[in-house]
Order: sequence, then structure tokens, then C-alpha cells
Amino acid sequence: MSTLIKNGRIITAADDYVADIFIEGEAVTAIGKHLQVNPDKVIDASGMLVFPGGIDPHVHLDMPFMGTFSSDDHETGTRAALFGGTTMVIDYAIQPHGKSLHWALETWKEKAAGKAFGDYSFHICITEFNESIKAELEEIIKTEGITSFKTFMAYKGALMIDDRQMIGIMNEVKKHGGIVAVHATSGDMIDYLTEKHKAEGKLSPLYHYLSQPEITETEASGRFIDLAYLSGVNSYIVHMTCEGALNKVREATSRNQRVLAETCPQYLLLDASLYEMDFEGAKWVMSPPIREEKDRETLWAGIKQGLVQTVGTDHCPFMWHEKLRGEHDFTKIPNGAPGIEHRLELLFSEGVLKNRISLNKFVEITATNVAKIFGLFPEKGTIAVGSDADIVIFDPSKKHTISAKTHHHRCDYSAYEGWEVTGKAKTVLLRGKIAIDDDKVQIGKGYGKFFKRKTI
Ligand code: URP
Ligand code: ZN
Ligand code: ZN
Repeated sequence: MSTLIKNGRIITAADDYVADIFIEGEAVTAIGKHLQVNPDKVIDASGMLVFPGGIDPHVHLDMPFMGTFSSDDHETGTRAALFGGTTMVIDYAIQPHGKSLHWALETWKEKAAGKAFGDYSFHICITEFNESIKAELEEIIKTEGITSFKTFMAYKGALMIDDRQMIGIMNEVKKHGGIVAVHATSGDMIDYLTEKHKAEGKLSPLYHYLSQPEITETEASGRFIDLAYLSGVNSYIVHMTCEGALNKVREATSRNQRVLAETCPQYLLLDASLYEMDFEGAKWVMSPPIREEKDRETLWAGIKQGLVQTVGTDHCPFMWHEKLRGEHDFTKIPNGAPGIEHRLELLFSEGVLKNRISLNKFVEITATNVAKIFGLFPEKGTIAVGSDADIVIFDPSKKHTISAKTHHHRCDYSAYEGWEVTGKAKTVLLRGKIAIDDDKVQIGKGYGKFFKRKTI
């Protein structure tokens, strides 16, 4: 099967030009003006933007968490992602205490196989580090192609590890060329504030926010950066929310250290005043919490300055009845919110159209940098001869309103209900196949493929 995409404005992290793209099988085989080829199918992309399929570096599908499971699984989650132009996700496989990294990987592979619409890979969350986990890392990185590991400095008593374990993980991952990612907030500070608020009878969602002030993230980010400096490991801070944390990354550059950072649309766009709406604030109970105007300004600046390399969604949806578990105690509200479908349209509408970022930067943070950092480039993350034909044909002037009534998440509320955005994925190709066309899915469940990744 061959396809010709004609006359689109092709945007990559580096380029912006009008040309045709010829696809044979799963890959791009030619790019040029007025290509003379005989395709099976022609797509006229005049007036459209054509950019690489988005890669979401941070999603939680079918994840056991806080006594329940995130409500999107690999079928519904990757399908919703495709509607929004995200053709690949990197999900988190969690190693529970007492289980191996191989167990985590196999369990998550089974969850996704035959179900995913879009392509996928996994980071593994290490929640316990000992000699047997250490012994697994080389094979996991070199043979299984899982090069990135998330660690938690918070969720005390559940996912959190201590600094000694962190050092052990960093040294071993460094030896084999992998990357250590972190949920950087101080579990002990949060634990103290949570207990204090509970003792004072302060139990509404607002106190989730007040139990995780900026300093909890600034402190842990700085500590993580220092530990990474000691070990020399490739390091990546996930879901960064605030000025204090970003300044720790900035400071590290003055000793020639490179720390990679990711933020999320919710931290770039939403405001902590949402927590003041009584229990409705539970919709945005996530960790770290949403912050303030000065933090949003800092994060947008950080993207422009190249200090923040990627934007993931941290898609971790829960149905409203699950959120209601915490109606009388914010510590029982499952942490997380939906967003996998809206990353590209929100960043385009609020970022590119409001002149906060350029089109090239938009592609860089949604696809190219993710592919480079997580060992998928140049197969993924760009439009080039030889790359997978993961392509979004995007209508830059199409207006629509985000709503739980129309989104494709398996979640009965939207974190962006009523938001009017301009720009929408019209046609999405995944490895040469049309996956979405005019709001209809065109591929079958199970088309999505697992990808091993390279070290960087
Ligand atoms: O609140 C969040 N972010 N839930 C998902 C788990 C995590 O920490 O990323
Ligand atoms: Zn996290
Ligand atoms: Zn997360």
C-alpha cells in the first residue's frame, strides 16, 4: 500500500516547507515538490499543517493506584490519543514490592498486547531496589529495550524510595546507558503537612494542594539533581510544575550538568484556584498539584529556553465515582486527571497561536525530543525518508470545544470542560495506515505495536 500526501506544510523540529510525502508500507520513502509517483491513495493536504505523530512520554493506562485502576486502558487510552494526533505513548509499568522488573514488563506487555490502537513502549517504575533488581537492569536495558526508569521521592509508604536506593539505581542505570526519571516531591514534607491538615480536620481537596506546596517540589528536585550529579546518570524530571524546581535545573547548568525536564498541559494552563471549588476540585487532584501564574510563566519560558524539553500529559483518569471515595478525606481521592487526547490541540491553540512557542518548538516538545530522549529517533519523532510514517494532518483553523460529552477518554468528566480551542487533527497516519480520518477511527484494536528503545 502506498500513499501520497500532497501539498501539506511540513513542520519538523527544524524545518517548515511545503512538499509532498510519499509513503510505502510503514515508512516515508520520498519527500519533495511535485513528486512523480503512482500511489494507491492520494491525500490533499493543501492548507493543512503536516507534522510527526505526537509521542506522549507520560501516561498511566490501566494502572493500579490508590485502591483502584486508572479508567483508560491500552485500548481506550491509545484510541483517544490517536484522535488527538498522538500516535505513540510511553506508559508506566509498575514494579510492586516483592516483584521483579521483568514481572512488571511482562504484566504491562500483556495488558497492552492485542488491545492498543496506537504504538507504545514502557518506562518501568522501580519502587524497591535490592541486589536482585540490580542484577536485572542490564538485561532490561540492553535486551528488553526499556531504557528509562521512574523513581518516586513521594507517595510515602507506597511507591517512594529513599536516597540510598536512588543512588543504587542511578549507578546501575548509568553503567548501562539508561536514564533515571523522577517524581520529584518530598514524601516526608508532604506526609508531615498531610497529617497536620488531617489532624486539624482540613479534609477538602484544597488541602491536597496545601499539603504539596512549591517547596516540596523545589527541595526534592534539587536533591534529585545533586544525586544525579554524583552518579553522572542521564536524568529526567517528570511532570514539573513550578518555578522553584525549574530554577534547580537552571542552577545545575552552571556546573555543566544537564538535567532534562518534562511538564504537562495542566501545569502550563490551569490555575490552583480550581481547588477552591469545594469537592469539584477533586477533578484536578493530582500530584504535584496545579500551581500559579508565576509558575506557568516560568514553565513557558523554560520551554523557550530549552530547559524543559518535553510536554507529556500524565494522563491518569479516574471516573467521578472513584474521585468520590475522597469526599470526606482528600487523601483518599485517586490522584490524576484525563488529558491524553488534548495535548496537541491545547499546545497548538494556547502555545503556538498565542505566540508562546513556535511551530518548530511545538513539534520538538510533543514528538522529536521525546523520541530522542527515549531512544526512538529517527524511527519516530520526525518526518524524514526512512522514518515511520506517523503523520498528523492538522487543520490549523478548525475550532472546537473540549467536553466530556465528545472526548474519547473513558472518563465521565473533562479537566478542560468548555475550553474552546483552535486547531484539530484531521487525518492521522500510524506507520503508513490511516488511523483517524475526520473524527472516525479507521484501524482495528491491536494495530498498535510495542517498541523497544535504544540507549542515548
Ligand atoms: O497525580 C498523578 N500524577 N497521578 C499519576 C501518578 C504520578 O505520580 O505520576
Ligand atoms: Zn508522578
Ligand atoms: Zn504520572
